[in-house]
Amino acid sequence: MASGTSRDVLGKGLRVLGRAIREQPRIFAVAVSGSVLFGLLVIASAYVVGAVVGEVVVPAVERGEAAGGALALAASALFGISVLRVVGIFGRRLGAGYMQYRLQAAYRRRVTRRYLDLPLAWHHRNSTGTLLSNANSDVEAAWYPIAPLPFAVGTLVMLVGAVASLFVTDWALALVGLAVFPALFALNVVYSRRMAPRQARAQRLRAEVSGIAHESFDGALVVKTMGRESQETARFAARAGDLRDALISVGRLRGVFDPMLETLPSLGTLAVLVVGAVRLQQGAITVTELVSVAFLFTVLAFPVRAIGWVLAELPRSVAGWERVSRVLDATGEMPYGDATLDPARREPATLGFTDVHFGYEPAEAHRPGTEVLGEVTFTVPAGKTVALVGPTGAGKSTIASLAVRLVDPDRGRVTLDGVDVRELTAASLAATVALVAQVPFVFDDTVRANITLDRAGVGDDEVWAALRLAEADGFVAALPDGLDTMVGERGTSLSGGQRQRLTLARALAGRPRLLVLDDATSAVDPRVEAAILAGLRAPGDGGASILVVAYRRATIALADEVIYVEQGRVVARGTHPELLATVPGYADLVTAYEQAEQEREQNRTYDEVTPVPSGLEMEVDR
Ligand SMILES: Nc1ncnc2c1ncn2[C@@H]1O[C@H](COP(=O)(O)OP(=O)(O)O)[C@@H](O)[C@H]1O
Ligand SMILES: [Mg+2]
Repeated sequence: MASGTSRDVLGKGLRVLGRAIREQPRIFAVAVSGSVLFGLLVIASAYVVGAVVGEVVVPAVERGEAAGGALALAASALFGISVLRVVGIFGRRLGAGYMQYRLQAAYRRRVTRRYLDLPLAWHHRNSTGTLLSNANSDVEAAWYPIAPLPFAVGTLVMLVGAVASLFVTDWALALVGLAVFPALFALNVVYSRRMAPRQARAQRLRAEVSGIAHESFDGALVVKTMGRESQETARFAARAGDLRDALISVGRLRGVFDPMLETLPSLGTLAVLVVGAVRLQQGAITVTELVSVAFLFTVLAFPVRAIGWVLAELPRSVAGWERVSRVLDATGEMPYGDATLDPARREPATLGFTDVHFGYEPAEAHRPGTEVLGEVTFTVPAGKTVALVGPTGAGKSTIASLAVRLVDPDRGRVTLDGVDVRELTAASLAATVALVAQVPFVFDDTVRANITLDRAGVGDDEVWAALRLAEADGFVAALPDGLDTMVGERGTSLSGGQRQRLTLARALAGRPRLLVLDDATSAVDPRVEAAILAGLRAPGDGGASILVVAYRRATIALADEVIYVEQGRVVARGTHPELLATVPGYADLVTAYEQAEQEREQNRTYDEVTPVPSGLEMEVDR
């Protein structure tokens, strides 16, 4: 995080404030008007107090009589000023609050919107913890100084007014003001400069602490099963300790500067009284004027702090803003083309991979040996089923992501019906391909909503048709409320196989012309899995070409062609019997998987319990 020099921070911070004002100009005007009203009334109240003392109290004391009437008049004047001041404070606070929270909400929306626009490759490089803190604490930090900003602006106006009124009163007293106010201002600047690096560090550590916590929760299963609790706890404790140290150093600095900032105006008042007494004796000023100015110094001390608050929050604001704008300005958004595939054509599509190379790190940081896929070339002809087989980590899921354009190749082409997928519109792509991912995701909603996803043209008939194809109609019909049954976290919980079939039905409901199944039926009974695939392959309206990542012999045997991948390369291709006979690695893999499944099947039956991945299926997925 480049917090840069403190001069840098001041410049950047002022630019962030400028952006806030440009985005909410009217509310800002309301808040500043309230604040200026308040400031002018503060000055006015000092002069009223001075007048009361000089014109009413002192003469009355000298004459030894009570001045009830005049005092009552003065009291009501002060009361009137106070009421107006309340109006000013109200306007300022309301405006500042509105402005701050509106900006926060607006930027939260922008950041999360952006997350959805950025391609999967970007998400792979940014942890969930970072994303959460960008949308939460970084957005908040960026707009922290907005709360005291109108107060500070009003205070600046007030200081100018105060110095002007001092000059009108007496040049000697004005000189005291000219010494004290700039000193107060300078002290505030020094304070915020010393604060800058400390605040930036604390903000960064906050994000790191929440990042570590999130990782540990995310990986709770791995942490527990690998017995890494104590290491994780230690890692968290170390960062939490760093954060504590950073916050304590912030507190120390506050401890030094806050009292100085309190004391300086009192010293100013003292100086006014000393200089004022001399000037009074010289007959240069009246008692009224002396009291007014002394009072002015005491009431000014507090508002001047507002400038310090803004300056002190600037570093944190700049740090937060830089992290937020890193998201907002992130490149790598997927540009879509404007080619479309004939939407009326419902025949299966042809998928082509031509010499595809891919690595997960950004292309500019490409080092040799980090390629996940290389020279991948194959075709899924229209209406055919191609099985993708290979050991864990071979790149099967990556190929699936490329096929539906979640990521783009570094080199080479992925085509649908001969058109490069990068040239297609987002809508055309979405209407043509569907991916059923390795890990099924079910929304906390009804079965119907989970399948339609609010897509046009997906009515109940289509939903049931999709459920039938996914062999899911039986269990959905048996649910208490049928299609209206709530599923997911707070609804009826489904077994792993049921979840997989529901997500498959979701993909089928869009009637894709190319279906990509990434090990999408692994928790379904093998016989049912084979039946699903056989049903999908049946010719007829709405048929699709299929690219299926599979392990089971019965499933693979249904494919027209098998592509065997190892370490990101296509090692062999052919029919299942051909590969069994000629590729030793392939035969080993299929046999090993079969054995692992047989062992597993002795321990449980499919779909009665939520399956825990075991054996070869146990993949740590990202
Ligand atoms: N998000 C990611 N960031 C970095 N590397 C990844 C990511 N996802 C997968 N990989 C790596 O890419 C390779 C292929 O992964 P994957 O396509 O998931 O294989 P498979 O699906 O065949 O198990 C593996 O070495 C894996 O570690
Ligand atoms: Mg995979």
